Amino acid sequence: MKKKRIGILTGGGDCPGVNAALRAVTKTLINVYSADVLGIHDGFGGLVRNQITPLRYDDVSNILTLGGTILGTSNKDNFFGIKRSDSQLIDAGTNRLGEALKTFSKQKLDGLIVIGGDGSLTVAQVLHENGIPIVGIPKTIDNDVRNTDQTFGFDTACWVATTALDRLHSSALSHKRVMILEVMGRSTGWIALHSGIAGGGDIILIPEIPFSIEAISDVLKSRFSRGRHSAIVVVAEGSTLVGETPIWKTKTHGLSGISTKLATKIEKATGIECRATVLGHLQRGGTPTPFDRVLATRYGHAAAHLVAQNKFGEMVALRAGQIKPVSLKDVAGAPQRIPLDSPLLQVAKDLGCSFGE
Ligand code: F6P
Repeated sequence: MKKKRIGILTGGGDCPGVNAALRAVTKTLINVYSADVLGIHDGFGGLVRNQITPLRYDDVSNILTLGGTILGTSNKDNFFGIKRSDSQLIDAGTNRLGEALKTFSKQKLDGLIVIGGDGSLTVAQVLHENGIPIVGIPKTIDNDVRNTDQTFGFDTACWVATTALDRLHSSALSHKRVMILEVMGRSTGWIALHSGIAGGGDIILIPEIPFSIEAISDVLKSRFSRGRHSAIVVVAEGSTLVGETPIWKTKTHGLSGISTKLATKIEKATGIECRATVLGHLQRGGTPTPFDRVLATRYGHAAAHLVAQNKFGEMVALRAGQIKPVSLKDVAGAPQRIPLDSPLLQVAKDLGCSFGE
């Protein structure tokens, strides 16, 4: 029987666990199906520019614990003129779909695995609709891919943010200050919500709930007047003051900076000393947590079986602890934001956490 030739690419922002997924795909396809695996470099650019090298069994040794992606990636390019429906406009560059299709047939590929977040998976769906058989794997620290309970990369980002919060508590107490930690998440607040709860945040600000300086000031003044002379604020980079346009509606990258503005506004409103810390790309780097290593491995293993069995147009998803295929069509387009009736929001509120409302 003809050997299957499967391409794989990593798109969008890097995150811990991508190499674990690459390793699982490659080992499963070689061990179980004796397939050829082709690594496509630097995201969709490698598909357009035909930058492809074989991924052999030994090429994926010793990468399980490695951050980043051995194939390289990009979250800036837009080769196929796609505009995201959540109003995050990516400038519609010239459409190079023809070159992608040419590479796919020139390399005699039978299928393509795309490891990516909501942006890359939206592109994957367009390519699938145009004749490239695709299976997606949900990856991003933002945890904002629809129809999966969790993306890999998210647990590690929450771990990094939580350990940062643990460190900020001692400084806040020592100086009787408000310490503000800014975390990533683009247009969603998943990292802020989870790390805010794990790290004992007093105030958690997320893009899903516009906040007011007055509400935050009231909480802080009341807390300090009770003799609690320190506070921890966790703010997602895409959070917004009531009535203002969210930064993520106008920019797709370089969203950071709200924490510094917030510190100035809080100091002015309360007279309490504030300091801001922007965690930035520390949430994107380094070795994955054991949870992310296992989740990425499970995703890669399941995706390998789907492509080998010609089940395309699907994304592997975590659903109530099980790995299941879901239609790429139902994933593409917009990010998954925190539902306002989320039980986790209620947990935080019932424990006395303020969301700046
Ligand atoms: O999508 C992952 C992410 O880390 C977002 O949380 C963040 O806003 C963005 O990527 C940062 O993009 P860049 O790496 O281009 O600065």
